[in-house]
Parts: sequence; C-alpha cells; structure tokens
Amino acid sequence: MRYQGIIFDLDGVICFTDKYHYKAWKALADEIGVYFDETINNRLRGVSRMASLDIILERSDREYSQEEKEQMAAKKNGMYRELLEQMTPADLSDEVRETLDALRLSGAKLAIGSSSKNAKLILNRIGLGEYFDAVSDGTNITHSKPHPEVFLKGAEFLGLDPKDCLVVEDALAGIDAAVAGGFDGAGIGEAATHEKVTWPLKTFADLKEIQG
Ligand code: BG6
Ligand code: MG
Repeated sequence: MRYQGIIFDLDGVICFTDKYHYKAWKALADEIGVYFDETINNRLRGVSRMASLDIILERSDREYSQEEKEQMAAKKNGMYRELLEQMTPADLSDEVRETLDALRLSGAKLAIGSSSKNAKLILNRIGLGEYFDAVSDGTNITHSKPHPEVFLKGAEFLGLDPKDCLVVEDALAGIDAAVAGGFDGAGIGEAATHEKVTWPLKTFADLKEIQG
C-alpha cells in the first residue's frame, strides 16, 4: 500500500456531471444574452459556483449587483439539481466501482474532495451515499480550488497527514490545490498534463498499479 488515504475529486473523476453544469449555465447565459460555449465551460472545472458565474459574466457588457448574482447562481443551481434527478447508479462505471473497491481492499481510507455543494446529493444518486470514509465538499470550505482547503479538510476528516494521501483530479486547478496542500496528485484528462502531477493517468484503473 503506497498511500494511506486517497481523496477523489467528484465531478469529472468519479462521475460526469460536467454536461449538466454546462446545460444549466448555458440556459442562464442564453437568458441574459451572454456568449457561453464548451471552451469557457472547461474553465469552470473545480471552480466554485460564484467564481464560475464571474467567469461567465466576463463576457457581459453590464455589471450585476451581488444580489442579482446570487439570484442567477440560485437559478442555475435549481436547473442543475433538476438535471441531476436523471442520474442513477448506472452513471457509476464498472471501472470506477471496481477500482474503488480494490483501493479499499489495499487498506487505504477513501474520501471525496469536491468544491461542489451538491456532492452528497450526487453521491446518493449514483449509489455511493454511504461509501466513502469522509466527504469534504463545498459545504465545509471557504476557499475553493486552487486553494488546498477542501483536500486539507478531507485529510483531516480521515485523520491522516497530507504527505500520506493521494489526490485524484481532472482539473488543473485541482492539481494546483493538491500541490499547495503537500499532497501527491494523480491527474486524469487535462490534469494528466499538469507539469507538477505525480501520476499522469491514462485511465482510472491505473490507480490500482500505483497503490500496489
Ligand atoms: C466542482 C465542479 O466540482 O463543483 C465545478 O467541477 C462547479 O464545475 C463546482 O462549479 C461547484 O458546484 P456546485 O454544485 O456547488 O454548484
Ligand atoms: Mg473535477
């Protein structure tokens, strides 16, 4: 066993909610007449809800008050949560489920480290509501990635030191957060190209070889 704890990002690592985030932000952007596409959407990975809205509003030609922004974010979240209703345990791939089980069998403690305030809802929808030893998410942090807070809290919830934990991420901001917190990072997708990633992954199941 190489790592005593493994902390997984949720969106884009354990399951794929990015398409629902995109649909909900797109509906909001269309409504207020602001250009938004999949490339801009990629910049929202790992970023908190309000910071995501600020990125979208970079293209707006008017200023919005804090109250208006909070209303827009709440509206987007309502649409997003409605879309999440479509998720079922079938949205958890066999590869992810089997890999998680193998990592647990290695003796590691497993946690979630997600910026999302909807993490527990999503975990329930995909049948992992009771699976993890700890869940650190958008409800227990004040700074989102690239700040390391969500992972530091995850390690603390597991009772482990960051140096004994691996963080698994799909977002560049997530690897920045892992490095800033003193964690090794395993990167999937774009995060595999981060210059400071410890383990670039081709596929999620590669984690089994790393853990030994
Ligand atoms: C992250 C996603 O997991 O959660 C981001 O990668 C998202 O795209 C963030 O903005 C916040 O999510 P939520 O569910 O709290 O709006
Ligand atoms: Mg992610």
